Amino acid sequence: MKPPLSRIPADVVAVTDYEPLARERVSPQAWAYIAGGAADERTLQHNRDAFDALTLAPRVLADLTEASTTIALFGQTFAHPMLLAPIAYQKLAHPDGELATAHAASALRTGMVVSAQASVKIEDVARATQAPLWCQLYVQPDRACTRELAQRAEAAGYTALVLTVDAPVSGVRNREQRAGFRLPDGVSAVNLADCVSPDIMPAALGDSPVFGTGMLRTAPTWHDVAWLREQSSLPVLIKGILTPDDARVAVEAGASGIVVSNHGGRTLDTLPASLDALPRVVGAVAGRVPVLVDGGIRRGTDVLKAVALGASAVLIGRPYIWGLAAAGITGVAHVINMLWAELEIAMALTGCATIADVDHRIIWSSDQRII
Ligand code: FNR
Ligand code: LAC
Repeated sequence: MKPPLSRIPADVVAVTDYEPLARERVSPQAWAYIAGGAADERTLQHNRDAFDALTLAPRVLADLTEASTTIALFGQTFAHPMLLAPIAYQKLAHPDGELATAHAASALRTGMVVSAQASVKIEDVARATQAPLWCQLYVQPDRACTRELAQRAEAAGYTALVLTVDAPVSGVRNREQRAGFRLPDGVSAVNLADCVSPDIMPAALGDSPVFGTGMLRTAPTWHDVAWLREQSSLPVLIKGILTPDDARVAVEAGASGIVVSNHGGRTLDTLPASLDALPRVVGAVAGRVPVLVDGGIRRGTDVLKAVALGASAVLIGRPYIWGLAAAGITGVAHVINMLWAELEIAMALTGCATIADVDHRIIWSSDQRII
């Protein structure tokens, strides 16, 4: 495995240019974990195909003198509508792990969502950044542990909680299984170290193979959303919703925001692209809370398309991990900066001076093909 780059090669000009550079710098097992999706990776592919299938409508000669990508969410200002998605175990990608990501987020004034399974203490991440920080949680089998993490996050200055609800069981991770992935020594979920571990003993032969393990006996339900809201004063976003019905229930259960996500294609394979699920969720939520989206965003035009379909902001996943593995802080910062620049170019060329100007009119609709 090669060491992280100390200089960024001049031909790295798009975030996907970092993917091969990252791959050479992590073990094949870690690469299977980072890059892989569930089962046959159809959803992983759908996430990309959905963006590629949308074309944009240019608008010329708009007044862009006051152009800005700034947005506000939960009373906080963000320099642009892109946050870093929660990604577990970042020490797999770089020895500095989440700390490097936090420094880059600080430099680029980019919101960062820290994973419950971060490989660095959430308090140490908070000290490394001035960027807005949100803390992702799972409702752990040990509820006291979830409560403690929520309260630690609030005390450390995190400004929102993101409850991930699409992974009560692990997906069918065949790529990881084939590569023999397991966490190496020195990389662990340090923030959950004191939690009582769930009953994940394999089911006895002849018992129901997943249901028989007891995993689902402790799995969260909608009641846990109301419960989590009471554990801190922070807004609680729910991540991992794709259907309008679940979105409605989430808002009624007190969610302050929704992240439309299929977990980067890592949980249930053959789910639709999150971009394809977005418009109906936005319709069901009807402006009551912000709706964010993630999955497959690799270009500034992808960010623009997500906003045009109703997203208030997007989460960037694997691309910043490619930057992290390739070149640490510099790599993450470069990835964010390239996407930000591409977004501004795309806004200028579709005549949008502000994020509020980005709406369905910038999507080339099938009507426009008819004369
Ligand atoms: C994830 N994701 C994730 N989500 C979450 O809520 N908690 C977590 O700990 C993780 N961990 C994680 C690890 C790795 C290696 C990946 C690739 C993804 C999902 C993540 O937040 C996000 O939903 C997707 O990564 C978005 O898709 P793209 O941008 O990677 O295509
Ligand atoms: C994953 C878990 C950690 O996607 O969310 O690997």
